[in-house]
Amino acid sequence: MYDPLRGLRRGSSVSIVARRSDEWKIYLDDLKTRALGDLEKASDVEAAEAWRIAYLGRKGRLTHVLRGISELPPDQRPAAGKRANEIKADLTAALADKTAELKAAVLQAAEAEQLDVTLPGRSPPLGRLHLTTQTLREMYEIFARMGFQIFESPEVETDEYNFQLLNIPHGHPARDMWSSFYIEGTDDQVLLRTHTSPGQIHAMRRYAPEPIRVILPGKCYRYEQISPRYDIQFYQIEGLAVGEAITMADLKGTLIEFARQLFGRQVEARFRASYFPFTEPSAELDIECIICGGSGCRVCKHTGWLEILGAGMVHPVVLENGGYDPAQFSGFAFGMGVERPAMLKYGIEDIRYFLANDLRFLEQFG
Ligand code: DAH
Repeated sequence: MYDPLRGLRRGSSVSIVARRSDEWKIYLDDLKTRALGDLEKASDVEAAEAWRIAYLGRKGRLTHVLRGISELPPDQRPAAGKRANEIKADLTAALADKTAELKAAVLQAAEAEQLDVTLPGRSPPLGRLHLTTQTLREMYEIFARMGFQIFESPEVETDEYNFQLLNIPHGHPARDMWSSFYIEGTDDQVLLRTHTSPGQIHAMRRYAPEPIRVILPGKCYRYEQISPRYDIQFYQIEGLAVGEAITMADLKGTLIEFARQLFGRQVEARFRASYFPFTEPSAELDIECIICGGSGCRVCKHTGWLEILGAGMVHPVVLENGGYDPAQFSGFAFGMGVERPAMLKYGIEDIRYFLANDLRFLEQFG
């Protein structure tokens, strides 16, 4: 290692100092020349800092020299100390100049690039939940407050679960309500579920004979002509409550409360008699058209009412297929779309926007 005081120390070097009393001067000047030469070569702020550590740092070369002065003959110490301190001041000043110069060069380069380093950074774009997910979560929360838990069931189903166990045998005319996508090579025994209702059987078989209160959300698929109102893929939420002494009053109370929480307290709702093979009796729930307020418009086809779900008391055959004794247990079930209520709530005119992956649509929600 380079030692600026090499030969200045007592012991073997004393004779040199004694012979040439200005020896330390030469070393100090040499040190200064080298230091300034090295600083000149520093091409960035990091290199300048490394230079500062090498010369002026706690273990730096000049610091080392300053410490060694006490080892010189007493008569030479004041002059050597003065000179060393002058050099320290010179080097410190040179470093300040160099650093300023380097920083200015960085700014100048940035300016040349038309880059304003004082501008605040750009915040990265934040994602948000899809409107379908938001609507689903809103529905989950409403039903959670009424004691329903979420139960997930498969999107790929057998004919048995999608139809037969729901009291829809082969050849039943009601099958026409659910045009299906069958999986090739399964002889029409496996299909993409056309509704979330088969989840009722899965949930019952999982929990029977315990009482249950579940909602079954998920994607459904139908072989339909795509239009502003229908898509081949959409979401449903199914609901199922099974227990002792569950009545149609429970169904009505639950669903009217749900409609009010989703669409607003003031919303008018009505039940209409209907038919589904897996419920008896069956009903559909309408709400007063939230677009025209009931006076009649294109959306409600001038009836003043909008259909939002199908429901009913679980058919005894279905209860039995789920593992419950219909003599002891009863239950209600309902099923509804997810996109449709969202369309009504936000005045969306075409269901195809939901899967169009168009940010102009998606960014409006959330
Ligand atoms: N699964 C029916 C559909 O997709 C909707 C439905 C009606 C579900 C009545 C039910 C119900 O649970 O009780 O059209």
